[in-house]
Amino acid sequence: MAESIEVKVPDIGDYNDIPVIEIHVKAGDTVSVEQSLITLESDKASMDVPSPASGTVKELKVKLGDKVSMGSVIMIMDADASVSSSPKKEEPAPVSQPVVPAAPTPPPKPNPPQPIQSSAPVSPSDIGKAVSHASPSVRKFARELGVDVSKVKGSANKGRVTKEDVQKYVKSVMSGETSTGSSSGVGLDLLPWPKIDFTKFGEIERKPLSRIQKISAANLSRNWIVIPSVTYHEDADITDLENFRVQTNKQNEKSGVKITMLAFMVKASVAALKKFPEFNSSLDGDELVLKKYFHIGFAADTPNGLVVPVVKNADKKGVLELAEEISSLAKLAREGKLKPDQMQGASFTISSLGGIGGTAFSPIINAPEVAILGVSKAAIKPVWNGKEFIPRLICPLSLTADHRVIDGAVGTRFNVYLAELLSDFRRVVL
Ligand code: COA
Repeated sequence: MAESIEVKVPDIGDYNDIPVIEIHVKAGDTVSVEQSLITLESDKASMDVPSPASGTVKELKVKLGDKVSMGSVIMIMDADASVSSSPKKEEPAPVSQPVVPAAPTPPPKPNPPQPIQSSAPVSPSDIGKAVSHASPSVRKFARELGVDVSKVKGSANKGRVTKEDVQKYVKSVMSGETSTGSSSGVGLDLLPWPKIDFTKFGEIERKPLSRIQKISAANLSRNWIVIPSVTYHEDADITDLENFRVQTNKQNEKSGVKITMLAFMVKASVAALKKFPEFNSSLDGDELVLKKYFHIGFAADTPNGLVVPVVKNADKKGVLELAEEISSLAKLAREGKLKPDQMQGASFTISSLGGIGGTAFSPIINAPEVAILGVSKAAIKPVWNGKEFIPRLICPLSLTADHRVIDGAVGTRFNVYLAELLSDFRRVVL
């Protein structure tokens, strides 16, 4: 029969009012004798309070940060009768007492705390995790390596995890023999993709993905999952720029070179990249690779899928030259004739859906770049000039940036600056 006992802090020497820095169990957990229940930390040492018996945790009496001394009640547990009737219980029990003294047998003697030299800070995610049998120093070692010790199989007495067990576990994960699973917070423990027989619901047709679609899918998925990205939205007043574009196109009608808004976007982006160099960079481990060249990729919609041709050295080209190059690269893209080097080396990408529509979207960063500019369809909007609403041509900009490199303030400054350049293009040459 289970016996309800109070688990108290055992004799921990001269220490008083020691904070609880880790709680390894929660109400309802089954624990074994000697299993670590909580960890205390004084200014000199950390120590585990092991379970005096096997049984079930009924109620926690402490929370993280609470200060305890010898004799403080840390939890109520239902101790297994088999253990409470073990020879151990014959000894006096200074720190745990039965809550309901139904049985005349004294409660089991708690084991002494296990000190270690120092401790790592407590992570709230540690609370309530499955707890394995390991000494504080081994758990600290595992924590430093980012290992969830509950995943490690213990080889010592009573399944205790040793330092060598942790090392072996790390080796097997690195070699791919073992998967870390999801409860460690590392890796994606995704559900399997749903397998559905669609014919049960109606007629279907199966069409294989194109080669480009398959390559894009793999790249987009990786970039979507790996990059902590944020999209910043801004409106650019392109009324004057559009008038200038239309006028220039009229003048150049005979030459056949037509300027689209994209060429201006490329030119303005280069100016903004020069002002905010971290946007023209890539992350490489702990280093940021800042590029001194300005190769601008642009997403092109083709019958075979999305491709990204690259305009090299866009900073050295005028708007007319950029327009011409964009047009010929887009043509090659649609015909599936782009050469590999015409799709390589981009340091920043623009995805323009303005010719189609939309008011905003969140483009996915083309790794290892750190930002991408999305452009939606410009439309006439009423803008307040201080006295009245006037009709202006407003173009929505959606800039997605990698938050590991670009903070929100910088992301917004880039967007605001870009919008300023587009609203008064003379600034580009300043
Ligand atoms: N607002 C309003 N109109 C716009 C515009 C904008 N932001 N951008 C372009 N337009 C207009 C153009 O002026 C043009 O009009 P016009 O013929 O009257 O002059 C029309 O839309 C078509 O332009 P388009 O041929 O698309 O040229 P472009 O230089 O703007 O774009 C490509 C070229 C290659 C980028 C484009 O054809 C394309 O493929 N876009 C899709 C990109 C994509 O799929 N992105 C998503 C990736 S997931």
